[in-house]
Amino acid sequence: MKTCRLLSFSLFLTSMMLMSGCLSPQPKDDLFKQLGSLAGIERFVDIFIREIGESKEVRPYFEDTNLDRFREKQIEHICLLSGGPCTYTGDSIVESHKGMGVNEADFNALVDTAIRAMNKAGYSVATRNRLLARIAPLRGEVMEVK
Ligand code: HEM
Repeated sequence: MKTCRLLSFSLFLTSMMLMSGCLSPQPKDDLFKQLGSLAGIERFVDIFIREIGESKEVRPYFEDTNLDRFREKQIEHICLLSGGPCTYTGDSIVESHKGMGVNEADFNALVDTAIRAMNKAGYSVATRNRLLARIAPLRGEVMEVK
């Protein structure tokens, strides 16, 4: 009888945990999914690189850049920033922008480029703002001319 009661209690507990999602944990961060997972991020970065090429303010910075590497590192970095299952293998943000002399106007120009790319990628305003909120704190690591 006692075993029976114990069994039904544990069955009750299991079903409560299942209902509340305890046994099938949700990813703690769903921005990665909102961006369309890895395929969505790859698509966004391709559009972003095209937009950089069209921006007269930002394009000069990329004159000597290996765009294949830039693409790969951007994808990894955005994947990681959005909570995706990626490892970032690039240089630190400070290191990779050292000596570029990025000023506020050019920083903002790059953000505008990213916003245009996010629009073209079809991201909602909420998704856009979530990604921008994760990029914004890195501003101080990129800008050398305040
Ligand atoms: C918070 C904003 C930014 C983030 C998160 C960011 C992120 C990155 C990352 C992950 C890389 C690749 C590093 C590597 O190759 O190991 C990179 C490279 C680069 N970034 Fe940024 N970046 C930001 C802002 C900017 C701005 C404002 C500019 C210029 C206007 C810029 C210009 C570049 C260039 C030219 C490269 C390639 C450097 C090279 O050729 O080695 N970035 N950035």
